[in-house]
Amino acid sequence: MAMTLRCDRAPAWAQLQSAFETAGRQFDLRHAFVDDAGRFERFSQEAPFVFADLSKGLIDARTEELLLKLARECGLEAHRDAMFAGEHINNTEDRAVLHTLLRAPADAPTGPKTASELREVHATLDAMLAYAEKVRADHTITDVVNIGIGGSDLGPQMAVLALAEFAAPGKRFHFVSNVDGHELAGVLQGLAPEHTLFLIASKTFTTAETMTNAQSAKRWYEQSGGTDIAGHFAALTTNVEAAKKFGIDTTFGFWDWVGGRYSLWSAIGLPIALAIGADGFRRLLAGAHAMDEHFRTAPLERNLPARLGLLDVWYRNFHRFTSRSIAPYHSALKRVPAYLQQLEMESNGKQVDASGKPLAFGTSPVLWGEPGTNGQHAYFQMLHQGTDVTPLEFVAVRDASHDLEGHHPKLLANALAQAQALMVGKLDEGGHKNFPGNRPSTFFVFEKLTPEALGAFLAMYEHRVFTSGALWGINSFDQWGVELGKVLAKDIEPRLASGDITGLDASTAGLLKRLSR
Ligand code: F6P
Repeated sequence: MAMTLRCDRAPAWAQLQSAFETAGRQFDLRHAFVDDAGRFERFSQEAPFVFADLSKGLIDARTEELLLKLARECGLEAHRDAMFAGEHINNTEDRAVLHTLLRAPADAPTGPKTASELREVHATLDAMLAYAEKVRADHTITDVVNIGIGGSDLGPQMAVLALAEFAAPGKRFHFVSNVDGHELAGVLQGLAPEHTLFLIASKTFTTAETMTNAQSAKRWYEQSGGTDIAGHFAALTTNVEAAKKFGIDTTFGFWDWVGGRYSLWSAIGLPIALAIGADGFRRLLAGAHAMDEHFRTAPLERNLPARLGLLDVWYRNFHRFTSRSIAPYHSALKRVPAYLQQLEMESNGKQVDASGKPLAFGTSPVLWGEPGTNGQHAYFQMLHQGTDVTPLEFVAVRDASHDLEGHHPKLLANALAQAQALMVGKLDEGGHKNFPGNRPSTFFVFEKLTPEALGAFLAMYEHRVFTSGALWGINSFDQWGVELGKVLAKDIEPRLASGDITGLDASTAGLLKRLSR
């Protein structure tokens, strides 16, 4: 397996440290634009379906040069190529990382480790899309309930909302993720079994929340008079055996080399295909594939995901920013921040490198956000005048998909104005009315919110997270940090009924007493 050199051991790391001390710390965006008439061109670029302006970032040409040097010294390109070739870069689980194969065309060139996988991908994709078309044509099914959590929920939920404009009318989509029965009970309330299709989405088919919800949904279906489980339940999983044992015969599989948070391109994407159809789903995959090809082949200097990932390293490890905010200026992109939270924080929220050695530098930032302009009236105050600097990302769409007069120019003007205000600031009034400015932002533009644009944007984000993770030398594809809580919950659950507090710490014991009857 191609290993990366951890960034703090690469010669460029020390050079970046001194560049930060001598120029980076005092860098001023306003001066940078005055000094360099070509700054916008230098730090903005076209990539498939996405235009990105990085020129309002706290970065100059020398810093970017050093970051690119760092990337090369760390072996970013070799690590990227190893991922595409199907090497087991998820070393702690001894797995390949091949979500990119899910969006590769059937005739894409493959290597020895991916040829049979690509055939399986297309056989499953064709079967799943044929099923989606069949269900779309079946007007007795009016409600689709996706039961899944994490990667088996966030992607489909986000994309079905984002691409609502492309959805055929006549079907409602519901997403149940939480083990909190209020959620499932609320959804079931309005449903009739003969009109409902349940999708049980779980890579492992063992996740406690999903299994609990699936059992309850099945019970509800049978108790409400439903008799056709095969027609009203389908499972999306790598564990087809477990799904069959559960009583579901309609299954669409995927593979252990698809991480949960990278799985919306697989059978987990069935709700998206049900909403926007086989053609729409293929367009989503095509957009992502175009970005994959860009990441795989563009020189790092003009490689958008790589440039973004390098900027993330610069912000996190030199400026020491601890969080990043994202503001999609399109209400259909409302769930994008939640989706990206899992993608970035579950991938890169690690404290040891791939060989298990502790890291002496920060990794994943906290990622958070709400759609604009809503955020402007909530937390943007802090972004403009707070004591911490938080890089902000704007996502704007040039063409609206509605014809309500005046709204879209107002929306776009707000996005541009916020980015401008963060950068230029305002110092003439003093005290409370001062805006320090020099606050960084990145601005993404799509021409229209299409399946291709969404696919490309999400793939761009995946590769950006790959880039920072590779430089940090971590395994971005495991998630051991979710295990301990799962084990402890299993221990605590029976104690809520028995009241047994033996061996518990005083706080957990005290709270358990409060919560048990
Ligand atoms: O607990 C975390 C996690 O394993 C995520 O990585 C995953 O997306 C989610 O749970 C759901 O897992 P599954 O699809 O196996 O039910």
